[in-house]
Amino acid sequence: MTRRSIALVTAAGCAAILAAVAYAPQVLRAQQAQAPLPIHQVPQAKDGGVVVMLCDGKTSMEVKGLKTGESMSHAQAVEVTRELMAQWQREHPNEKWQMAQTDESSQPVPAPSAASGADVSKPSSTVPSMEAGAKPPAKGMQQGDTYASFTDRDYKVWKNETDNFVAEGKRIFHSDKELGGTIGVSCDMCHPDASNTHPETYPKYQVQLQKVALLRDMINWCIENPVKGKAFDPNDPKLRALEAYILAQRKGVPLNYGKH
Ligand code: HEC
Repeated sequence: MTRRSIALVTAAGCAAILAAVAYAPQVLRAQQAQAPLPIHQVPQAKDGGVVVMLCDGKTSMEVKGLKTGESMSHAQAVEVTRELMAQWQREHPNEKWQMAQTDESSQPVPAPSAASGADVSKPSSTVPSMEAGAKPPAKGMQQGDTYASFTDRDYKVWKNETDNFVAEGKRIFHSDKELGGTIGVSCDMCHPDASNTHPETYPKYQVQLQKVALLRDMINWCIENPVKGKAFDPNDPKLRALEAYILAQRKGVPLNYGKH
């Protein structure tokens, strides 16, 4: 090998190393984004009960007398979620925790004797309809197809389909069974009308997930704990419906990704 070709080979080698160094963070980032969600590190039960953990991946309590695989009664589940939230509130005295979607003030967690708000049969939280403010584009002016002309009936059908999809998500959000939960806990027990879920702040870095999370990642993480179910496949119709419901509850709130 001539001196010149050695120099060339060395230069090429250096360039390759430099390229690899520049590329490495991107590869790491891509791997991080695709990595499966971490598993909740739930502490061991000390009294033979079941330990339930909050969505924060920190706050937990042991439900004494509950055996693994056993479900709590609705009343007991409400009690346990209240206790967990009271604990969380003590640790986060300055955090606002809304007890209703429309409530912008910080509210203490109500005493266990208060009405639970977890009853789906009550029409307390009506699913918002697309109607309000939804203006269909002028007929015949659809993007990409200036000849298409949709009828009022088409718009009604779309609206119905969308509202039904959101209503389906509401049903699942309020049902431990539909969520695949094993201990009787459903999302609404801590998130009445999907309050405090802040879908408009996604994507954002979530410390408990150790990565930039999408809303669906957070939904799945909360299904695992405190609901104690199995995370849904990203295309599972139930996960899609949950996402639709949670987002629909924040209609009109400006998107603000990354906000904490
Ligand atoms: C026992 C009470 C409880 C239950 C039940 C619960 N959560 Fe949460 N959830 C919390 C708390 C507390 C936080 C805030 C965690 C933190 O500090 O990061 C939270 C956070 C979240 C967030 C992130 C909010 C944000 O500001 O980014 C989402 C989304 C969420 N929960 C969805 C759900 C869904 C969906 C379910 C049902 C599958 C559920 N939660 C069940 C208590 C609960």
